[in-house]
Amino acid sequence: MLRYIASAVLVAAFWSGPRLAVAVEVIGPTSEIRVTNVELAPDGFSRLAAVANGVHPGPLIKAHEGDRFKLNVANKLTDPFANDTSIHWHGFFQRGTTWADGAEGVSQCPIPTGSSFLYNFPSGGQTGTFWYHSHLGTQYCDGLRGPMVVYDKIDPYKHLYDVDDENTVITLADWFHLQSRELALNGAGASANSSLINGKGRYPDGPAVPLAVISVQKNKRYRFRLVSLSCDANFNFTIDGHKLTVIEADGQLVKPLVVDSIRIFAGQRYSFVLHANQSVSNYWIRAQPSTGFGRLPDTTEGGLNSAILRYAGAPDEDPKSIEVPSKLPLREPNLHPLLNPAPPGSPTFEMTLAIGFNGTKWSMNNVTWDAPVKNPILLQILTGAANASALLPKGSIYDIPRGATVELTVVASPIAAPHPFHLHGHAFSVVKSAESTEFNYVDPVRRDVVTTGIGMNTTVIRFVADNPGPWIFHCHIEFHLREGLAVVFAEAFSDILVKNPIPQSWRDLCKAYKKAQPDFTLP
Ligand code: C2O
Repeated sequence: MLRYIASAVLVAAFWSGPRLAVAVEVIGPTSEIRVTNVELAPDGFSRLAAVANGVHPGPLIKAHEGDRFKLNVANKLTDPFANDTSIHWHGFFQRGTTWADGAEGVSQCPIPTGSSFLYNFPSGGQTGTFWYHSHLGTQYCDGLRGPMVVYDKIDPYKHLYDVDDENTVITLADWFHLQSRELALNGAGASANSSLINGKGRYPDGPAVPLAVISVQKNKRYRFRLVSLSCDANFNFTIDGHKLTVIEADGQLVKPLVVDSIRIFAGQRYSFVLHANQSVSNYWIRAQPSTGFGRLPDTTEGGLNSAILRYAGAPDEDPKSIEVPSKLPLREPNLHPLLNPAPPGSPTFEMTLAIGFNGTKWSMNNVTWDAPVKNPILLQILTGAANASALLPKGSIYDIPRGATVELTVVASPIAAPHPFHLHGHAFSVVKSAESTEFNYVDPVRRDVVTTGIGMNTTVIRFVADNPGPWIFHCHIEFHLREGLAVVFAEAFSDILVKNPIPQSWRDLCKAYKKAQPDFTLP
């Protein structure tokens, strides 16, 4: 602990200079991602982080419609307690490339330190706002996460905005002063020390380090891409004095919806258009977290949970803008897809999954997911599992027949809620949002992370099982995933290998991983 205090003081002494505009790091769809441990102090408190290309958040991966990704992840981690990695490209369907999905215990063996692994997958017609993160333990809470955008060739909403570039991506993250493996040993949750907007933030009673500044020009219209890289907290996001017109949710265009606040859950993304039509000045951008250490969740005073929207010509000073109560909060049932809005029709495969907690471990229908790290599900299939019921761990894997119209009902738990659930391999239609009692079979939002609400709410989603693969469905609160809040769907079991040719490099990775064992084990 002494080491932490000493370094915090040192960094505080360092940070009294002016605000520096830091260029956003951008890499293309064919790139190397170096994963390293570095000391970082994004909120003025220095700690060891695990990051992509030396920065947190990781660089923006920028691609265009139709691009193929060739992302070579080189593991150069040095922390002896946590030096494996595996990266998930959140929101990409990985049709035909399930082996590149990155989920620990499901899609691949971990990448041991000193090795690299090429994730080679098509964007497959998908466009919009995505992100990438470690999918091993709670490693992304230590910094291994960043935004990803696939820009449309012809955006149906082009006429709504003037600017959409690397400076209009806004990331929100919760940041911890302890290593994630030291957090939440009781399973219920963890408390972040600070909220970072575009990688910068402050913690209660910490130094007044620089906040992120987002620059706009009066009268221009901006497509901002809001990405939650959160490990736990959801954020209530607002920009003083401005309305936000939401046009995308999780890589799916939605009909324009004007709001003045957006509650965004771990893993979710929204694009919104902001018209810079207010007077030339500075305005607070606020991202109030649902949870955190001390008074973090309660205030934006002192620059906590804040960044600055600065009009060109405004002075380089803190905003004086005042927060006003939200009158038009984003409600999920009000989101409707722009294209093909109808959800899949009558279900042929229905299932109810209830979230449970026993004081230590989480469960779905009373079964706790325990990731088979050394024998991931895809490896079990490759080495001869005869059918889905032969897969381990028993009770956590559900067989979904090819082409089924799936309807899942998730029953929430009042504990540590709301739980945001993410499905790999698909976007799904939310025919019943947790915050509504109504079903919508006409034009419900389609997305890939949905909050399951508080209390004993139910959430109902539908998708068509047209993407053979083992796909994990899990709570995106990383501490809950680590403690078991997940299931895996073995979708179209007998087609998985036929439709997903596995490269030799994937098999070699498992060999490299086994060789690296048992010198280092996961914490
Ligand atoms: Cu964003 Cu299973 O992950």
